Amino acid sequence: MSIPIPTESYARRVLLRLEGTLNKVFGNDLNPFYHLGALGFYFFWVVVVSGAYIYAFYKTGIELSYPSVEYLTHEQWYLGGVMRSLHRYASDALVLVMVLHLLREYILGRYRGARWFAWITGVLLIWLIIAAGINGYWMVWDKLAQYSVVSVMAWFDWLPIFSEPMSQSFISQEVLNDRFFSLISFAHVTVPLLILFVLWIHIMRISKPVVNPRRSLALGMLLTLLVLALLKHALSQGPSDMGIEPANINIDWFYLFIHPLLDVWPAGQVWALVIGVSLLFCALPWLPGRHKQIPVAEVHLKECSGCRLCVADCPYEAVVMRPRSDGMQFREEAVVVADRCVSCGICVGACPSSNAFRSEAGYVSGIEMPSLPIFGLRTAMMNELAKLEGDVRIMVFGCDNAANIEKLRSKGVAVLSLPCIAMLPPSFIEYALHEHHVEGVFITGCREGDCYHRLGVLWTGKRLTAEREPRLRSRADRERIRQCWAASADLEELESELESFRSSLQRGSGS
Ligand code: HEM
Ligand code: SF4
Ligand code: SF4
Repeated sequence: MSIPIPTESYARRVLLRLEGTLNKVFGNDLNPFYHLGALGFYFFWVVVVSGAYIYAFYKTGIELSYPSVEYLTHEQWYLGGVMRSLHRYASDALVLVMVLHLLREYILGRYRGARWFAWITGVLLIWLIIAAGINGYWMVWDKLAQYSVVSVMAWFDWLPIFSEPMSQSFISQEVLNDRFFSLISFAHVTVPLLILFVLWIHIMRISKPVVNPRRSLALGMLLTLLVLALLKHALSQGPSDMGIEPANINIDWFYLFIHPLLDVWPAGQVWALVIGVSLLFCALPWLPGRHKQIPVAEVHLKECSGCRLCVADCPYEAVVMRPRSDGMQFREEAVVVADRCVSCGICVGACPSSNAFRSEAGYVSGIEMPSLPIFGLRTAMMNELAKLEGDVRIMVFGCDNAANIEKLRSKGVAVLSLPCIAMLPPSFIEYALHEHHVEGVFITGCREGDCYHRLGVLWTGKRLTAEREPRLRSRADRERIRQCWAASADLEELESELESFRSSLQRGSGS
């Protein structure tokens, strides 16, 4: 399993700064960048609902399509016209959030290893969505549709798959028949259905995927689209006439960007570009990069009681339960599906046998990360604790994908970084506090709402507030535990939070 080490690339720094600013404006909960996938789903549904309304009035045929859309736009502007504009702007917004979502996953390195599946199905979605959009513009049968159809058909004619050149069918109005319109309206319903199916596959390997944005974010987006629809109606560009080549056409750059290229480049070159870019995108998860190999999680049956906690916490549906195979009295056992595992270690933090109070040498947990077994983690913590000096000693637990906690290290501060903060079993916090190994425990990881492993920050918070198993027990003094969620760009904030924690511990109030 190859796992990327998020590098401090320029793009990543810029993205984190931008998202930090958006967090200040909207709060982490409503930061649109943290909900791009969910917004994609949302805009898709807006397109479906507005499309269904338009479709009810749409008439299929050479002479009928254009007037039916015109009727809707002008005679029924208050509803049909608004719906048409909503349909267009929500489709544009869908492409915009899709591109931002793609760029974000790429910049943050969330496309390698087991995530290849979401990435490749994402690449398929790009072309399906673009195809549905181009097809949508043809439905209007105005001058833009005429220009687009002729240009796309000529492009497809380059492929040696049709016996008759398809572009010939569009030379004159007479040759053009109603079958073409039946075909494009059929495609305009079936391609979105196919998109929905691929979207379902896209998130199949993600547990608890967020497919609905927060209500206020959804409402804000809808209002923006509505204002846009009222201010700038979506209009047609005059009826088509196959006898006259359309001039001065305005194109929608979100969907029809291929057309200017088709105007100036030979069809073969445009095919080479499209196929080349698609293949490059598909190859990205496997291209060499700055990532290290981390073996996937492994189950140790003799310690597994079949409690299902690892199944509940795994963000990638990578643990499944099977009937017991070793004759133990438990009904089920955990099994790791290796090609889904992103090696986050969250399952280790969930397993009740990952207990820091166990003392037998070399003990194992029910589920383990071979690169950092639980006994090794305990030993590393003990070594760190032993180095601490001073009146206020703090143990910092952090995450390899967030702020670099090595920079916090000092005589009174020990640090231990994990693949994900949720790999930390709560018993380790209790252990560090137990018998005053340390005065305080400081927990940090990715920004709230933006966990590199999706659910690690959420699960950690819930374990610490005893809302989720394995719970931090009540005997652990909450006053001596502080959480601070910080990306690599937030090191200063992290340092000052640690300083404030140290002062509060020194005062003895712990608050
Ligand atoms: C409009 C189309 C798309 C929609 C609606 C969509 C939606 C989603 C959703 C809801 C998730 C789960 C987010 C979560 O809960 O963590 C997701 C994950 C993902 N998407 Fe998309 N997506 C779209 C297109 C794409 C494209 C074009 C790509 C890249 C080529 C892509 C790459 C990914 C990857 C790699 C993940 C997994 C991230 C992770 O494992 O943390 N998606 N997408
Ligand atoms: S929780 Fe465990 S099984 Fe699931 S992806 Fe992370 S390491 Fe793999
Ligand atoms: S959490 Fe541990 S004990 Fe429970 S099912 Fe998973 S591996 Fe087995």
